[in-house]
Amino acid sequence: MTAIRRGGADDLDAVAAIQRASPGAARWNAADYLDREFLVALEGDRVVGFLVARTVAADEREILNLAVAPDFRRKGVARALLDCALQSFRGSVFLEVRESNRVAQDFYKSLGFKEFSRRKGYYESPPETAIVMKFHSC
Ligand SMILES: CC(C)(COP(=O)(O)OP(=O)(O)OC[C@H]1O[C@@H](n2cnc3c(N)ncnc32)[C@H](O)[C@@H]1OP(=O)(O)O)[C@@H](O)C(=O)NCCC(=O)NCCS
Repeated sequence: MTAIRRGGADDLDAVAAIQRASPGAARWNAADYLDREFLVALEGDRVVGFLVARTVAADEREILNLAVAPDFRRKGVARALLDCALQSFRGSVFLEVRESNRVAQDFYKSLGFKEFSRRKGYYESPPETAIVMKFHSC
């Protein structure tokens, strides 16, 4: 069963490896996640997924990054991370996803997120439109 806990310095190598294996994920320096709302998912002792978020306002949060190890996908890990991150939160949740990243869009839609707007040329390497998705929890 997936366990979720706050991420720490000891998790950064595993998180960076998941990020490298996940072209759809944002490629930030994993050490910066320690300054954010940083959750990791565990199967036994192994870190198999992570989520990074920030609180923008009392009623607004943003998902900054989310990825699951390729061999643990489609087992409910990302859903468990998002459920934990948004537990008892009331308000709007935003995120950006590459236009080509249909899997992530399907994932977020399965949890009630909807397309909110588009930002042309938002991404670099390669350049691509961002789809801004929003979820409102009340
Ligand atoms: C997107 C991602 C985080 C989903 O993680 P996951 O742990 O596999 O997702 P879950 O198992 O919790 O899926 C929950 C639901 O999302 C939907 N979903 C997930 N993956 C899907 C896929 N490949 N195709 C269609 N729907 C999918 C399904 O409705 C699924 O429920 P079901 O399995 O009962 O049908 C994972 O694919 C990933 O790490 N991708 C690369 C990184 C990335 O793109 N991150 C997003 C940055 S914005």
